[in-house]
Amino acid sequence: MKDFKKSVVYQIYPKSFKDSNGDGFGDLKGVIEKLDYLKELGIDYIWLTPFYISPQRDNGYDIEDYYNVDCRYGTMEDFELLVKESKSRNIDIILDMVFNHTSTGHEWFKKALAGEKKYKDYYIFRKGKKDIPITNWKSKFGGNAWEYVEALDEYYLHLFDVTQADLNWDNKELREEIYDVVNFWIKKGVKGFRLDVINLISKPSTFEDDNIGDGRRFYTDGHKIHEYLKELNENTFGKYDDIITVGEMSSTSIENCIKYSNPYEKELSMVFNFHHLKVDYKDGEKWSLMDFDFKKLKNIFNNWQRGMIDGNGWNALFWCNHDQPRVNSRFGDVKKFHKESSTMLATAIHLMNGTPYIYQGEEFGMTNPEFNTIEEYRDVESINYYNILKSKGVDEENIMNILKSKSRDNSRTPVQWDDSKNAGFTTGTPWIYAPENYKKINAKNSLNNKESIFYYYKKLISIRKVENTIAYGDFRMLLQNHKQVYAYERKLNDESIIIVNNFYDKECTINLKEEIDFDGKKVELLISNYKCNYDKFENIKLKPYESFAIKLK
Ligand code: GLC
Repeated sequence: MKDFKKSVVYQIYPKSFKDSNGDGFGDLKGVIEKLDYLKELGIDYIWLTPFYISPQRDNGYDIEDYYNVDCRYGTMEDFELLVKESKSRNIDIILDMVFNHTSTGHEWFKKALAGEKKYKDYYIFRKGKKDIPITNWKSKFGGNAWEYVEALDEYYLHLFDVTQADLNWDNKELREEIYDVVNFWIKKGVKGFRLDVINLISKPSTFEDDNIGDGRRFYTDGHKIHEYLKELNENTFGKYDDIITVGEMSSTSIENCIKYSNPYEKELSMVFNFHHLKVDYKDGEKWSLMDFDFKKLKNIFNNWQRGMIDGNGWNALFWCNHDQPRVNSRFGDVKKFHKESSTMLATAIHLMNGTPYIYQGEEFGMTNPEFNTIEEYRDVESINYYNILKSKGVDEENIMNILKSKSRDNSRTPVQWDDSKNAGFTTGTPWIYAPENYKKINAKNSLNNKESIFYYYKKLISIRKVENTIAYGDFRMLLQNHKQVYAYERKLNDESIIIVNNFYDKECTINLKEEIDFDGKKVELLISNYKCNYDKFENIKLKPYESFAIKLK
């Protein structure tokens, strides 16, 4: 059985991964084509984002039918073959389950709109007056979170897009429908679940205006969330000891995350939180521009590492996913130090305590595309915010700069397989374009060069498998006040591993002797992104984005 503490998960956004039939959309057969590539990288699990039947308003996070494969992505036979072919390479499949909401095209919602009581109770409807929404809560994609339905003279709640209606978890019948969905996919041989915005499912019993925020404090980590997760666990994946789960936790707290992931609580295996990815939000606002706050980033990592270890919880470690801009464009320098900054960021995240996640293309350094016109964007959130910023009077150039840095489409461009047309992603017209840099930055080039970012990731993955200290060791932040360096020690019994990362394009000097006792210890270099000797521990000069890990025994 796999040990998730020694495993690495690779996230696939199928729509942009590999198109096998030339229709411009990636598909499941495309994923099968690339399994040998993933095997070479050395990952243990593939997390597939939604490929169920969906109108694709939110690229599949708006589900119309939980039990079938959308024809854009292929067929159920393709999925079964994918499970089988992955298994034969010792890779398991994690499915993405979206249970906070369904598409308004789901038959449950259609029946609800037709007035069927049973199905109205699957959602959150409230009596109200036209133009006076039930509360002032904001949808996460912009606008009010309540939508008025003329025919019923009622509103329904949608924390996301207006076509994503929130489900009513207080209804037992609905919860049982959900268990059926999970059990259906377990029978297909799936070995894990990623639960979309799962900490938002428990809504308050009465709805009131939020006079100090956007409403999230009323439904985030809601009052029945732990009860609902325990019940979900007990009725589905909790019956098997080889299934892992990861919950996507929006605006959560360490305290709750410990409960979600402490094995004694019997809820989930691990959690994603996003606090470290808000360090470039000006006054907490995503749609703004700001250099990242490095001190804050270090403190967040330190608090979460310590908090989760002390509480026996488990973190998912990640920089990138389909909702985040590319991390090298964000916290690195892709123009002057593409390889150095991409590999430094990888070291910093991979060797902490938790299970690392790699997002497609990250392993060979894909960057943000820098789209220049709104026509190149596809994402519903980006387009909504384009319009919101326009209506606030922000000028076009500014808006485009914000989108270039913040849009979710930054990570949704086609995987750059090689230097052929459309980056080798499709023979047709891609649903979203690849940036021109695919001619240089692509998987083929990375595979052909043993010194590439790809092989650096491969090494990081193997270190976690070999070094128990990385998988199970304690965490201590080093050089706490250093303005450029994020360094930490992992420790297990009498062995320690020191990880050092220069987050800037400037050289700097560090002194490890003050914090680590090196006397009489053997030093072994595990990985580094420059060719250097790490045999002295005072006045070490670090080059731009230099990063290394050494083992002391
Ligand atoms: C999650 C998904 C995101 C989606 C949202 C609504 O945050 O990762 O892509 O838009 O939930 O389902």
